[in-house]
Formats: sequence, C-alpha cells, structure tokens
Amino acid sequence: MQVERVEDKENMQIESGPIPIQRLKDFGINQSDITKLQDAGFQTIESIAFSTRKVLLAVKGISEAKADKISEAARKLYPMGFISASDQYEIRKNLIYITTGSTELDKLLGGGLETGALTELFGEFRTGKTQICHTLAVTSQLPTSNGGAAGKVMYIDTEGTFRPDRIESIAKRFGLDPQTTLDNIGYARAFNSDHQLQLLIQAAAIMAESHYALLIVDSATALYRTDYTGRGELAARQNHLGRFLRNLQRLADEFGIAVLITNQVVAQVDGGAMFQADSKKPIGGHIMAHASTVRLSLRKGRGDSRVMKVYDSPNLPEAEATYMITEGGIADYTE
Ligand code: GTP
Ligand code: MG
Repeated sequence: MQVERVEDKENMQIESGPIPIQRLKDFGINQSDITKLQDAGFQTIESIAFSTRKVLLAVKGISEAKADKISEAARKLYPMGFISASDQYEIRKNLIYITTGSTELDKLLGGGLETGALTELFGEFRTGKTQICHTLAVTSQLPTSNGGAAGKVMYIDTEGTFRPDRIESIAKRFGLDPQTTLDNIGYARAFNSDHQLQLLIQAAAIMAESHYALLIVDSATALYRTDYTGRGELAARQNHLGRFLRNLQRLADEFGIAVLITNQVVAQVDGGAMFQADSKKPIGGHIMAHASTVRLSLRKGRGDSRVMKVYDSPNLPEAEATYMITEGGIADYTE
C-alpha cells in the first residue's frame, strides 16, 4: 500500500499521509471508543482499514455493531480497491529511496532503501549491519533533494549496540547538525521478545504525531533466540516472530516508512550444505523469508571491504556491490 505524500517545494519537507483516527468522529464514533482503539495500538484510519473484523472485535469494549460501524467509516475515509497498473507504476516511480551513503550500494538497491517496504540485512558479525543502521538513521533525515526522506527515525535496539557518538560523526559527514540529528532519533532498548512487540504499539502512537521516515530493528531475531530455546519451542517462536513482522509491515503500509531489520546467520547443518562455501543461512526460516520485501546478505570481502548481495527482491537482480565502513558511516570502497 502506498501512502500519499505531498511535497512542499519550499522547504522540501514531506507531509506523510496517514489519516488521524480522530476523523472517526465525523462518522459518529465517540471519543471513548476512539480511546479504546488507540490503547489497542490503532492510531490511524489506515490501521483500521487494514485490519480484519476479527482484530477489531478483539479490542476491549468494542461490540460487533461498533466494529462494523468503525470499519465502514475507515473504508469510506480510506477506500481500498483496484487501481490501474499504470497508476500503480506512477506511484512506484514517485517512491522515495533513502541513500545508504555508498553510491554503489544505492545503485544495487535501485536508488537506496525503499520506503513503504521491509528490508532485511543479514550476515555474520562485523559485516556492518549495525553500521548500516546508524548511517541510515542519519541519511533518512536529509532533504529528499540530498537522498533523504526528511523524516525522523525510530531505533529499536535489542543488543545494546546503538552508539550516539557514531550518529554524531555520521551527521557531520552529511553536513547535519549532530544535536538535531540525535534529537530526531527515538531510541528504545528492547529486553525481551514480548517487549519488542509491545514497543511497536508505542511506535505507532509516536509516528502518528510527526513525520517519520524510518524504523530500525537491530536485531529483529536476537531476542527470539534467547527467549525460545530448543525444538519444542520452535512453533511458538515462529508464531511470535510472525506477529512481530506483520506488525512491522503494517507500520510500513500505514506510515509509508522504510523498515530496516537485521538478522543473524547460522551454519546450515543439514546434509551436504556443510561443505559448501556459502553454508550460512539467515535465521527465522520461511516466516522471515516471506515477511521481508528485500533481503540483503552481507559478507566480508578483500581487505576492509564488505560485500552486499541482493538475496531476494521482487524487482532487483541478484547482483553484488562493495562498500566499506568509515568514521562517517557506510561509503564506497576505496583501497
Ligand atoms: P554483529 O552485530 O556483531 O553481528 O555485527 P554487525 O554486522 O552489526 O557489525 P557492525 O555494524 O557492528 O560492524 C562492526 C565493524 O564496523 C567493525 O569492523 C568496526 O571496526 C567497524 N567500525 C565501527 N565504527 C567504526 C568507525 O568509526 N570507523 C571505522 N573505520 N570502522 C568502524
Ligand atoms: Mg550489530
């Protein structure tokens, strides 16, 4: 789903299109019901329009009759039907891509990190996943004319590796004021997988208040590995992870933001794959594979170089590009 964006040519500020949930009042829904919806994580008309009746009925204090009235109002405010493929083409041409800091990576990604979509970075330790997150937390704030999305950033850190001083030096490289850049990043440390899911409800409430361009989860899977151990808990883990990822996609749809998540790899233990050079696979199985729009694999290259490969994408070829990590963030590789 594409959120309509209006560009104000004068200051290149972008207004994102989510429709405030308060608009339900125009359709005779009272404030107390709106509050109930907000407490359950619904902040926009889109979030209601994208939800099934079953989900609305699960909101405490919402009766069947009310759920119907609410979803009817949402559908009127946010009509969802067929459009022509050429209109869809126009929408995609106007999509905003956020620069990674490397022209080679941007080329590989067809312009940069795609807004409205979920992008997954996976690779071994020290391949630069966290550094890419830091760099995009800065570049998202650049004006669209400079490869940014002129929006704020939300950063969910599950491993305790967010470093404000890194943001400072990356901001300087891009000519942004370090203090303002830091002020525009909402930071939360997640301590377990339930908490990580809970934070998304809070994120939706904050995003409804001002323009956000990017949500980062570094790493999306680490806490699942510690909270669920052993074969017996695999189904429960996948179920919870699936819910988390669906919520991320919903935020991407609702607010038109880019969602960037990181993931680890594990050695593939089944059969002959053991002896292949490329025997590491991302964790999360099919649930993760289907949730991510774009999957990018990272590995170490020659010298200080790192290599990004498009592992799965609906529109990008499976190509590779080289980059490196510098004090100012991700950059093109130079020897
Ligand atoms: P895990 O989270 O452990 O799986 O790794 P990761 O993929 O997130 O790696 P990360 O992004 O943390 O990259 C770590 C690499 O970045 C190390 O090789 C660091 O030396 C390098 N790095 C971090 N900060 C700087 C810096 O300011 N300058 C340079 N040149 N390199 C840096
Ligand atoms: Mg990391």
